[in-house]
Amino acid sequence: MTNLVVIGQGYVGLPMALRASEVGLSVIGLDTAPEVVEHLNAGHSHIDDVSDAALAAGIAAGYRASTDASVIADADVVVVCVPTPLTEDGGPDLRPVVNAAGVIGEHVREGALVVLESTTYPGTTEEVFAPLVLGERWEVGTHIRIAFSPERIDPGNATYGVRNTPKVVGGITPTCTAAAQEFYGLFVDDVVPAKGVREAEMAKLLENTFRHVNIALVNEMVRFCNELDIDLWDAIDAAATKPFGYMAFRPGPGVGGHCIPVDPAYLSHRVRAKLGYAFRMVELAEEINTAAPLYVAQRVQAALNDVGLAVRGARVLLVGVTYKPDVSDLRESPAGPLADRLAAWGADLAYHDPRVPRWVRRPDDPATALTCVDDLYDAAAAADVVVLLQQHRAYDLARLAQVSRLLLDTRGSVPTDDPAVVRL
Ligand SMILES: NC(=O)c1ccc[n+]([C@@H]2O[C@H](COP(=O)([O-])OP(=O)(O)OC[C@H]3O[C@@H](n4cnc5c(N)ncnc54)[C@H](O)[C@@H]3O)[C@@H](O)[C@H]2O)c1
Repeated sequence: MTNLVVIGQGYVGLPMALRASEVGLSVIGLDTAPEVVEHLNAGHSHIDDVSDAALAAGIAAGYRASTDASVIADADVVVVCVPTPLTEDGGPDLRPVVNAAGVIGEHVREGALVVLESTTYPGTTEEVFAPLVLGERWEVGTHIRIAFSPERIDPGNATYGVRNTPKVVGGITPTCTAAAQEFYGLFVDDVVPAKGVREAEMAKLLENTFRHVNIALVNEMVRFCNELDIDLWDAIDAAATKPFGYMAFRPGPGVGGHCIPVDPAYLSHRVRAKLGYAFRMVELAEEINTAAPLYVAQRVQAALNDVGLAVRGARVLLVGVTYKPDVSDLRESPAGPLADRLAAWGADLAYHDPRVPRWVRRPDDPATALTCVDDLYDAAAAADVVVLLQQHRAYDLARLAQVSRLLLDTRGSVPTDDPAVVRL
């Protein structure tokens, strides 16, 4: 039986660990957070897409979580799914990856396969990760196989999960690629070998940069379409009828989550640090998408102005504050900078989100904490303006429009025949 250790039991590592245990691998989820480990071993999942029942099935199949890195010594395969955030100045923060690699280096045994899944810039696996895993003892490809395999998990996606999302793998040597391909083939339907480790790293950043740039394109277009009195959503629906050469992206209040606002910055940072020039497309996309929530604030101001109200003192209800629908993840959500701007202008803020009972925008500032309103439709009826940011499945948008005096729809998903509705 294959012994697998998955390092990092978050949005990515936990579903992957449980899927591997489902097909009979002996799996230990290693995490540095004792509370995460304790909760998991007690059968409580902290991840939206993993139910307690799925966790219980994993535990029954032998899965357990641990903080004890010495379990790596018995592993045939070690997979790393730790976070890759940005530093304060916007550069890659590889500390979790470096820590995990160092710990693997201390314990890994000869013959093991070690895979990095965390999203990072091309070159990380060979230049940063592998030297720490190998130390002075081992040689890559002969003693230890090392590969990169980009994580493609899409939280909230009911159709695509670990099993049926094709998995790209790229090893430092062809032997490493073959070992990774064989390993993922145990529990993923379709494994796609890349030419090498850098191509696998680049594939992930290409996917996310593509999304970032295309979202920025429509977020820039939405501004002038509003001025030109064009419904961009309608134009996008029309364009999307073309059966080839077009893919629809829709405007919104900005980008969020752990991937789209973060990953392209890893790539542009690498290009600048290594080659000395700018990756202009990404920098422009960043500029546009970062400004998107502030543009929404201006549109709230304009909508209130049209009905003779100032932002100061206006009752503003934000609806859906997570970064995407039907998840509880608030990381990098554009609702944060929007709320900050409206609060700075003196708005009387409230919010509703079925997934977020209490919303603390900045943990160091208790004044930024809000509690979810009890009833969405009562609160909408009492608000001067309602701002739809995230169309969670639970929302009855027609009813929301009906009870609202003024509703700014940043998603283009509320029927526009209601006179209270203004599209972004
Ligand atoms: N969340 C997503 O939708 C998503 C999608 C695709 C790719 N990714 C990428 O996958 C990686 C992991 O993201 P995530 O969303 O699962 O993160 P997460 O924050 O949900 O989970 C990471 C876990 O790793 C643990 N951890 C941190 N440092 C550790 C260490 N040195 N050793 C052991 N455990 C450690 C943390 O305690 C946490 O439980 C990131 O590189 C991210 O960019 C995420």
